[in-house]
Amino acid sequence: MNTDIAQLVSVALYTPKPAESVAFFHDLLGMEISHREGQSVYLRAYEDFYQYTLKLTEAKQAGLEEVTWRASSPKALETVVMRIEASGLGDRWTDRDYAHGRAYKFCTPDGHRQKVLWDLDYFEAPPELKSKLRNRPSKRPLRGVPVRRIDHVNLMVSDVVKNTDFMLNVLDFKLREQKIGDGGAIVGSWLSVSALVHELALMRDSTGSRGRFHHVAYWYGAQQHLLDIADIFAERDVRTESGPAKHGTTQAYFMYCFEPGGNRVELFGDTGYLIFDPEWKTVVWNVANEVDLEKSSIWFGGQLAKSFYRYGTPVVLGHSLEEIGR
Ligand SMILES: [Fe+2]
Repeated sequence: MNTDIAQLVSVALYTPKPAESVAFFHDLLGMEISHREGQSVYLRAYEDFYQYTLKLTEAKQAGLEEVTWRASSPKALETVVMRIEASGLGDRWTDRDYAHGRAYKFCTPDGHRQKVLWDLDYFEAPPELKSKLRNRPSKRPLRGVPVRRIDHVNLMVSDVVKNTDFMLNVLDFKLREQKIGDGGAIVGSWLSVSALVHELALMRDSTGSRGRFHHVAYWYGAQQHLLDIADIFAERDVRTESGPAKHGTTQAYFMYCFEPGGNRVELFGDTGYLIFDPEWKTVVWNVANEVDLEKSSIWFGGQLAKSFYRYGTPVVLGHSLEEIGR
């Protein structure tokens, strides 16, 4: 598929518990630490080809620092930046981020900080991490149940239509699935730039807040690994929210949990389904209809917790996990 954005590169998160957050991703999800700098730690999954896909930075509150996208070519980068600047949501060019070259910073209409680039550093495994599989950038780790690669990011928005239109018209995403609610209001969008059903989901924040983070997803490629990590989480009192189960929307096998800093993380079992059709017609779920409401959220495997539509980071007053309850 020929879009100006090629893929999701990385997600940068704030955490009030940096040591515990790093231990969660390193020890339980088997991620490797690529770099430490100041109050930040950079990590990658063992099949992530770039230097890092997750940056954790110490801060008072959990939340999103930035999402980074890679353009399809240097020319596509310039084209996208022209459209971002015309939208009025552009910020500036920067070349100061670790492992990322010249990049253009901007915001979504809701205020989520983003960055788009072409130049970046590929991961070069040191001898002890080198895999004999020539198409695997580093050895499969021995810790926890190692995730394989970053998959997608989910952002909570105050206005799904406005933010979806921005991603479609300015960033060149394709609209794969959508949920409409009472009165035809659009309450969620699943967008992609590849055959994946989504690299980005936008969901209505039912607290009415702007610019919050819902989750980052790492991919296993096998449902059994969700059961394995669920077993390990239960032994170690890691807080989980829903799953292992299967969504109707995107057909994903999933489990949601919270890293110690409070950010939601999704572990993604298989790929869902793939889209190769250049004339794809957006799949629409009408969640005002009870069957669609139930089947889109959970195809099988229990229920989504109440917190799923209300909890995000940063946490807003009255909407902590404890206050929302199960
Ligand atoms: Fe997700």
